[in-house]
Amino acid sequence: ETVRIIGAPMDYGANRRGVDMGPSAIRYAGLADGLEEAGVDPIDGGDLLMPRAEERDPDADQPSRGNAKFLREIADVCRRLGDEVADTIADGTFPLVLGGDHAVAIGSMHGSSRNSDLGAIWFDAHADLNTPGTSPSGNVHGMPLAAALGRGVFGEMDWARAPGIREESIAYVGLRSIDERERELVRESEMTAFTMADIDQRGMTSVVEDALAVATDGTDGIHVSLDLDWLDPKAAPGVGTPVRGGVTYREAHSALETVSRRHERDGVLRSMDVVEVNPILDEANETATLAAELTASAFGKRIL
Ligand code: ARG
Ligand code: MN
Ligand code: MN
Ligand code: MN
Repeated sequence: ETVRIIGAPMDYGANRRGVDMGPSAIRYAGLADGLEEAGVDPIDGGDLLMPRAEERDPDADQPSRGNAKFLREIADVCRRLGDEVADTIADGTFPLVLGGDHAVAIGSMHGSSRNSDLGAIWFDAHADLNTPGTSPSGNVHGMPLAAALGRGVFGEMDWARAPGIREESIAYVGLRSIDERERELVRESEMTAFTMADIDQRGMTSVVEDALAVATDGTDGIHVSLDLDWLDPKAAPGVGTPVRGGVTYREAHSALETVSRRHERDGVLRSMDVVEVNPILDEANETATLAAELTASAFGKRIL
């Protein structure tokens, strides 16, 4: 299969500058070679163009912005990204989106769910279910699932609601950091949450198999969203919101290999994003290298 790499160097959704260098760092770490070794054909679609955060006012006034920072800029990027993802799928190629902060997933999911029912697996320490009304930080990288599900009021980004995505087709894997209000939202939602405790008790492979069952049940395909802060900060130090007690290097590969085994069987994977790599906070590009390796594992790279 042909994988189209789409860089989304968006640095509007988090507090700490630097994730705009993520796409370069992941490419430099050997993403294309890794994909080739996995047996897929990578093509590079380049980066979406966007103004640097410093050129914009995070609090530019707009109706219903709540406390969401850079909402206008994020809405603009995600709309263009959504179109690009949808066009990529229409061309018969696979969209691989490199972030950028996790708000880019608003665009990738909107594009990937156009005219089809989409499940999702959220590999992340965080729930990313805040709304402009509940967010303690105002950072939109903590809100992409709410935007996609049409929860909360996003003002000029209300279009982000993706009709093809239903709560019952979303599974979290590795959840361990959740805000007070978010905890209630997750509990009362129909999403499935596999926390770190589930991974401890049952092992990664079995948890990911269950997550795949949730996301593929009654859908046309799945979106995989990989936030590098899903891993333990010892393995992935280059992220803006590290949370200790994360998944190990080996567990992470095992998880993505489980996804790839399923994909090889029935082609369930429809789109993917790899987000939150921050080269400024990284140590010698090790988090970007891990991002590239894990992506290769997701597409079937094996030891033998
Ligand atoms: N829950 C926190 C917030 O909403 C942190 C979100 C972190 N999200 C991420 N994609 N790294 O501000
Ligand atoms: Mn996260
Ligand atoms: Mn829409
Ligand atoms: Mn996230």
